[in-house]
Amino acid sequence: MLTEAEIRQEIQQLVRLLNQHNHQYHVLDQPLISDGEYDQLYARLKTLAQAHPDWVPSDSPTRRVGGTPLAGFRQVAHQVPMLSLGNVFDEADLRDWIRRIEERIPGQAVEYELELKLDGLAVALQYHHGKLVQAVTRGDGQVGEDILHTVMTIRNLPHQLNTLEPPELLEVRGEVIMPRQGFAKLNRQMEAAGQKGFANARNAAAGSMRQLDPTITATRPLAFYAYSVNQCVPAQTQPTQQATLDWLTSLGFEPGAWRRVVEQVDAIQAHYNELVEQREALPVDIDGMVIKVNSLRQQQQLGFVGREPRWATAYKFPAQQATTVVEQIEFQVGRTGTLTPLARLKPVNVGGVTVSNVTLHNIHEVHRLDVRVGDTVSILRSGDVIPKLVQVWPELRPQDTVPVTLPTCCPVCQSPVAMPVGEALARCTGGLFCPAQRKEAVSHFVSRKAMNIDKLGEKWVDALLQQGLIQTVADLYTLKDKKAQLIELERMGEKSATNLLAAIEKSKSTTLARLIYALGIRGVGESTARQLAQQFGSLEALMTASTEALQKTPEVGGVTADWIRDFFAEPHNRQVIAQLQAAGVHWPASDHNVLTEQMPLANQSFVLTGTLSQLTRDQATLMLQSLGARVSGSVSSKTQAVIAGEEAGSKLTKATKLNIPIWTEAEFLAHMTGYGLKAEDFNNLD
Ligand code: IVH
Repeated sequence: MLTEAEIRQEIQQLVRLLNQHNHQYHVLDQPLISDGEYDQLYARLKTLAQAHPDWVPSDSPTRRVGGTPLAGFRQVAHQVPMLSLGNVFDEADLRDWIRRIEERIPGQAVEYELELKLDGLAVALQYHHGKLVQAVTRGDGQVGEDILHTVMTIRNLPHQLNTLEPPELLEVRGEVIMPRQGFAKLNRQMEAAGQKGFANARNAAAGSMRQLDPTITATRPLAFYAYSVNQCVPAQTQPTQQATLDWLTSLGFEPGAWRRVVEQVDAIQAHYNELVEQREALPVDIDGMVIKVNSLRQQQQLGFVGREPRWATAYKFPAQQATTVVEQIEFQVGRTGTLTPLARLKPVNVGGVTVSNVTLHNIHEVHRLDVRVGDTVSILRSGDVIPKLVQVWPELRPQDTVPVTLPTCCPVCQSPVAMPVGEALARCTGGLFCPAQRKEAVSHFVSRKAMNIDKLGEKWVDALLQQGLIQTVADLYTLKDKKAQLIELERMGEKSATNLLAAIEKSKSTTLARLIYALGIRGVGESTARQLAQQFGSLEALMTASTEALQKTPEVGGVTADWIRDFFAEPHNRQVIAQLQAAGVHWPASDHNVLTEQMPLANQSFVLTGTLSQLTRDQATLMLQSLGARVSGSVSSKTQAVIAGEEAGSKLTKATKLNIPIWTEAEFLAHMTGYGLKAEDFNNLD
């Protein structure tokens, strides 16, 4: 239970925070947090305020609507106040809301009209005898600013209603928005001109509308989407919201593109789910779906409660951003020794996913954010993107926090940490002496595209290292002499041990490319490893190659060549390689170079992009390589063709620009059939 003092303090903190955000949002057009996050904070305050109304200060945002009007524009009182919408956040809320409506108007069939909840700036337009004469922002709901001069520059709204018999007075409300594409372009232009871009499309729309100089607004890609008629003399005759929007369309307005009328709560939920899916693909930003009782007569029966209509609500999207507290900041050591700062968080639900830690990338990022243990922070998750720490709240920082510094010693092996000048990443200098690096090195060595020892998951690697059964990757091949100890490992047993040893044994027969990749040389990914195997043909040749010789390999530049040299110069690494060979790791002696020269696609480079539906990328790559071709990650003028699957992006654009042939997946398969290749023969790697 919270004490009275704690509750009072929380109310005050929330009021202060929400007022600050209201000012940022409504007055400065520079919100610091997402709407979802604001809603969460607001909902908490509302709950506390309902339980303890006497403790709520008079400046609490629960006591008023929106922001204060901005100076510099003519202030206009709304004849009909501009109210706001209540929210539902999940299916249970939705069902409650529907149930309450149906209880209030019992025995009536109810239709619901669904619309996009556009994320822009609400504006009320007045037409006198068909002519646009006034355009007022929402302001505090009672009084707004007249922005007719900028509204006049918006191209998709009528200055004169498209009818021979216009009503004496018509007030239409809707949302001014900036479509995503236009927003991205505007920001690029502003940044190119050395100006700071807008944080999001809503701010860009609001900022553009509140210009004193309409010639600036005229250059901005804005649109007005109508969603209601709020005054009409003589009274409008349309019976429903749907008919009203159709009528507005006939007068020259554009309502939001997506509209549905349904009767069942299940259908509402289904449409909501569909919108959540489509959200990223829509041309405009939306923050939810608006549900309205379609019949205007029923709307009237239902009326209003407080500052919200009972007949409409906003079904909000799950918050993509949430606030939580940093419990710890750790440095994790990767395979190549990089130290990555990681913030451990008090677990928080962000858009339906629990987030308990977030990477901070590098020490510069930690310093830029000045994030400290104990800090309250905002976490953002958009799409499938990994969660990101976007904001630290210094005003909520406890006393006695300290700035984070880069450790001087590796947190795992205590070797010194180095941070070469000009590099963003700090590294442990312990090399394979460092258990953290060893663990990553072993996991990489056994991975599918390396030695492919599939029975050896991360947990076993951990156990083997911890029990001292292995020190290096070469020790894997001596495990067969330690079978008794292996069986002793927790949850291992005779059968698993036998299977594991068989998998290790099988991996001895490999290819040179796989082995090179498995060694985990910095900068040498799977594709570069293949190139090196082709170029040098033998491990000995590679180990003794000069940096000049290395650089003759496709994909290998000066930096990677140095890393390869450094790797083989390290005695420890040479020893591991000798042990691997002594243990019987072998690969076909290859004269790849000679062979590939004679292959049909020798010296040709291809790029795969987008999602293929009939093949995996590995399959397509192997098919091309088996014909002597190279598969590259980027398009250049030397690319032979680009194979483009679904949702291909920038590579496809670049190929089009460079006039490079583009093959669909079907065309690719047809070519392969021409060479006598069948996809199913390339199911297994190598
Ligand atoms: S109808 C009584 N329809 O959402 C208010 N509003 O919190 C009725 N909004 O500021 C508003 N899309 O500007 C309605 N399709 C839509 C909307 C919409 C966005 C905004 C509106 C208002 C806020 C309500």
